[in-house]
Amino acid sequence: MKLAPLIPLIIAHRGASGYRPEHTLASYELAIGMGADFIEPDLVSTRDGILIARHENEISETTDVAAHPEFASRKTTKQIDGHEVTGWFTEDFTLAEIKTLRAKERLRFRNQSFNGQFEVPTFAEVIALAKRRSAETGRTIGIYPETKHPTYFRTIGLPLEEPLLALLQENGYRGRTAPVYIQSFEVGNLKRLRQVTDLPLIQLMEAVGRPWDFVVAGDPRTYHDLATPAGLMEIATYADGIGPDKRMIVPAGPDGRLLSPTSLVKDAHAAKLLVHPWTFRSDGSFLAPEYGGNPGKEYDQFFSLGVDGLFSDFSDTAVKGREAWSRH
Ligand code: G3P
Ligand code: CA
Repeated sequence: MKLAPLIPLIIAHRGASGYRPEHTLASYELAIGMGADFIEPDLVSTRDGILIARHENEISETTDVAAHPEFASRKTTKQIDGHEVTGWFTEDFTLAEIKTLRAKERLRFRNQSFNGQFEVPTFAEVIALAKRRSAETGRTIGIYPETKHPTYFRTIGLPLEEPLLALLQENGYRGRTAPVYIQSFEVGNLKRLRQVTDLPLIQLMEAVGRPWDFVVAGDPRTYHDLATPAGLMEIATYADGIGPDKRMIVPAGPDGRLLSPTSLVKDAHAAKLLVHPWTFRSDGSFLAPEYGGNPGKEYDQFFSLGVDGLFSDFSDTAVKGREAWSRH
C-alpha cells in the first residue's frame, strides 16, 4: 500500500467548476493554472463506446442539448440506479453528435457567461491536456477519473472499465505510482479492476445509502458499514484509499451546525488507506456557518484532521488554504 503523501493533494473537482462550466477543457485548464495537483473527470459512455467527461449520463443540466431541435425526439425517461430520470442520455448519442453540443453552467448562482462556449471533452482529450500541461509547467498533473453508473453502463453493453484501462495503458499510466486514481461509488467494479490493474483505486462513499451494485446484488451493507474499521480493512484489500463525503469526517446536525469530527481519518489511516474527502466549495450557500464565510477555515480544519487530499470546486482557494495550513 502507498504511504500517505506529506503534502495533501488538491483535486480539481470537475475542473475549476466554481469558475467555468464543469467538465470542460477550459475548466480543467484553469484549475491546473491555479495549482491543482489532479484534475477530476467523471466518465460516462457515448453510443459508440467513447468515454466522455460528464457527471451524469443525462446531460440537460450541463449542456444545451434541449435547445437542439434535431435531438428533440431523443428525450426519454429511464431508470438509472433506481431513479426515474427524464432527459437526454449520452448512450443515445454518438460522439460526433455530442460534439455538436456546448456546455453550460449547472448552478444558477454561478457565472453563466461561459455558457455555449465549450465542447464536451472526451477522456482522451482530458489525458492529453494533463500530459501537455505537465510538460509545459514541469509539474506532474494527475488525473482522477470516476466511473459513473458502472453497473448500468455494463448492463446496456457499454462498459466503462475496459476503455478506461485501455486509454490509460496507451498513455503510459502504469503501476502503483502512476499519476492517476480511479474512483467509483460502486464496490464490484473496483474489485474487478484490482484483479487486472495495479493503478491506484479509490472507494467513494456517500454519507447515506448503499453502493448501487450492492442493491442489485441484494447485499444489505451500507456506506456506513464500509466506513467502520472492519469495512475499511476490507476496502484495503482492493483499494488504496477512500473518497468520503466530507460530512463523514465533520458531520452536521439536523440544523446544519457542525459536530465534532469522527474517527474516520484515523480509522482509514490505520487500515493504510488514503483519505480524499469531497466536496469543498466557497459559495456561501455551501459553506457551513461556523466558517464565517471564510473557506480557508474549512481547509485548515480538514488538513489539520490529516486528510491526504480533497476535492474542491475552487482550486485557487484550496491551494491558498493548503499554503496557510502548511505555515503553522
Ligand atoms: O468523486 C468525488 C466526488 O466528485 C463525488 O461526488 O457526485 O461530484 O461525483 P460527485
Ligand atoms: Ca466525481
